[in-house]
Amino acid sequence: MVEEKTVGAPAPAAPQRTVKQRLTRRKPVERLTEEAGHGEGGSLRRTMGLAQLTMISIGATLGTGIFVVLGEAVPVAGPAVVLSFVIAGITALFSALAYAELAGMIPASGSAYSYSYATMGELVAWVCGWCLMLTYGVSVAAVAVGWGEYINELLRLVTGASLPAALTQPPGADGGIVNAPAAVVVVLAMVALIGGVRESAWLNGAMVVVKVAVMVMFVAIAATAVRDGNFAPFMPLGMAGVSAAGATLFFSYIGFDAASTAGEEAKDPQRDLPRAIMLSLIIVTAIYCLVAFVAVGAMPWTDFQDTEASLAHILTVVTGTPIWSVVFAVGAVIAIASVVLVVLYGQTRILFAMSRDGLIPKVFSKLDKRGNPTANILILSAAIAVLAAVVPLGHLADATSIGTLFAFGLVNVAVIVLRKRRPDLRRRFTMPLAPLTPALGVLSCAYLMLSMGVATWVTFGVWMLVGLAVYFGYSMRRSTLETEPETAEV
Ligand code: ALA
Repeated sequence: MVEEKTVGAPAPAAPQRTVKQRLTRRKPVERLTEEAGHGEGGSLRRTMGLAQLTMISIGATLGTGIFVVLGEAVPVAGPAVVLSFVIAGITALFSALAYAELAGMIPASGSAYSYSYATMGELVAWVCGWCLMLTYGVSVAAVAVGWGEYINELLRLVTGASLPAALTQPPGADGGIVNAPAAVVVVLAMVALIGGVRESAWLNGAMVVVKVAVMVMFVAIAATAVRDGNFAPFMPLGMAGVSAAGATLFFSYIGFDAASTAGEEAKDPQRDLPRAIMLSLIIVTAIYCLVAFVAVGAMPWTDFQDTEASLAHILTVVTGTPIWSVVFAVGAVIAIASVVLVVLYGQTRILFAMSRDGLIPKVFSKLDKRGNPTANILILSAAIAVLAAVVPLGHLADATSIGTLFAFGLVNVAVIVLRKRRPDLRRRFTMPLAPLTPALGVLSCAYLMLSMGVATWVTFGVWMLVGLAVYFGYSMRRSTLETEPETAEV
């Protein structure tokens, strides 16, 4: 449904619209599909198959959550932390099914942002894209800070010395001046992305193999020390503890949707995106449950309280030598670096889609001669590197989760809306038992959002207000739908 222009005819005057018309204008699914890949200067290249797309989702998911957050969740849930992983996994599953249906229908780079634009109108799409900036952009900075801590730990394990606080802490924290390692990993990811998507996908694939291998190594070693007695009592802090740990561990599932940001670089997106999303979630859930099971089976749950890097510690205790901890720490450094790489990639593609729609400046959809959004990558990476270097981002992890849950909730709503409005569209994957399943998806996201603290809600509220100010001050008037003769409708 791309509009045809008559050569030589004067450009039609932009029609007058009410604010309501602007906020609710939608972008037809056919148009999203047709224009997929057309930025300023051409198209993104279609190079990725099922394996690479699955690796993208695993690359973005398996990281800080299992390496760090598991250790923090065990004291809250006890051995039943395995159940917490299952609860968080079920919440992720509803949204994964919804993502799979929409990604199989609308293979645009904007992921949930594009799905919202097609179903619920421009304002909701903007809000969704703005939330995705928490999920992707801000979380890259937080994950980069975590990477810096691991690299320092590794240095200490191997050489006995670590970097000075001035170079590992943000200004104002414990004598810090700049968090250099956090900025360095963002710059490294930037260099890989500028190298090209094929090369980045290859690099990510290698890193995913390493991190899965490290997880298998952990399970194999820790399984030899599993004791029945460590599972009793199974739920020392009751179901409340299990749920609270589930909300915290939801962080570890964030990223399974990353393949959907590669919709315009996939060879057969409609077939492969749903498969990649579901496959990665199944693989990651299996790894998480296995790792959690052997971890709490090998070490009494009460010991997790005082143990930093608890998984590495388990390996030292079980084998009696620190060598496996070093191998594990190397694995953690690689694992977290791949999260930085892929999540940064995802953010560039979401910005690309928003820019093509005119909601953010055009420079973000400018492609270089090789079809790479280099300017976009440079600007975004510079901003994130500065953020990671100077801001203590720990407290933003929950803000990342709340923004993600909100976006996931919208994706579930989008499935219901599109089933009603466009039953005719070809769906390569359908969410079973809809509308019950997407409704449960919305409820499960709302439930986890409501279990978050006041401070997180305040951060989220401020973020949304800033987003609305940007929309009404800039984006609404610059939307590409603004200059079209009539408001696009699905
Ligand atoms: N799921 C990602 C991680 O755990 C954010 O690092």
